[in-house]
Amino acid sequence: MLLTLFMVLDEEFAFNLVKRGILKRKGVDCSKYRDNYLRRRIDHRMKATGVASSYREYYRFLERNPAEYDLLLDGITINVTDFFRDRDMWNAFTNDVLPQQLQEMNRRKSKLLRIWSAGCSIGEEPYTIAIILHEKLGPTLNNFFVSIHATDIDAKALEVARAGIYDAHALRNLSRAQIVRYFDKLGSKYRLKDDVKRLVKFQQHDLISGRKFSHFDIIFCRNVMIYFRKELQKRLLLDFLAALNNGGYLILGKTESIPGEVLDKFICVNIRERIYRKK
Ligand SMILES: C[S@@+](CC[C@H](N)C(=O)[O-])C[C@H]1O[C@@H](n2cnc3c(N)ncnc32)[C@H](O)[C@@H]1O
Repeated sequence: MLLTLFMVLDEEFAFNLVKRGILKRKGVDCSKYRDNYLRRRIDHRMKATGVASSYREYYRFLERNPAEYDLLLDGITINVTDFFRDRDMWNAFTNDVLPQQLQEMNRRKSKLLRIWSAGCSIGEEPYTIAIILHEKLGPTLNNFFVSIHATDIDAKALEVARAGIYDAHALRNLSRAQIVRYFDKLGSKYRLKDDVKRLVKFQQHDLISGRKFSHFDIIFCRNVMIYFRKELQKRLLLDFLAALNNGGYLILGKTESIPGEVLDKFICVNIRERIYRKK
């Protein structure tokens, strides 16, 4: 009994050592991520390496092989994404959010449209926004000052995003006409054309410890906050609120939502697609 208790405490201690190791070696504060989520990702790496069956052994392995910290962090910041991921949300964005935003800008006689894709991964989300803007505005896009600010903590994902080169599988949600219009063929791959790329500016940024941004009309933060503890989710939602212009939109992932204490600062525009508006 005492031995079991000791082993549990020892494993808890080692789990915290791994978290501290990530902070020390990679500068990422994992204490704000959900413990269950972190344990799943560490277990996954332990299985993949096959060298450890306990957190203590895995911590020793990490310290002897610091390159493993990179692989572990890759596993924590999962980059799963897609062009036009969750089609219904993009339809709601194209047919409801964007027309209302453009109408509002017209009323204010403003031509400036600022969008933030927070946790943009390898770029498919911000580039989807850029493609929609091209389709919706056509040649009149040139009359606007559009900026799509795309940020992620993961430097490697941002490298892929900046290159803007994808394989055919990544383009499966686009029509043939869209592929021809927005991509150049590059061997077996597809490279985004410059008129889409130029709308998006990528920047490395940690939502937990990074600087605060402001003056956005629309913020996308989809499938990022699910990995974070509740108190951090709340703080980030308040950060997004502060970063939005009055009446600006916040669009979350399908399984994410705004908790009660923060919800009264937003109007829910589309509950199914998790689209909210700053009051
Ligand atoms: C599952 S992807 C979501 C990509 C895109 N938003 C979508 O829904 O298709 C999650 C992204 O969040 C990023 N991420 C995780 N923790 C982060 C943090 N603390 N700050 C900024 N980005 C983070 C990961 O690197 C990853 O690229």
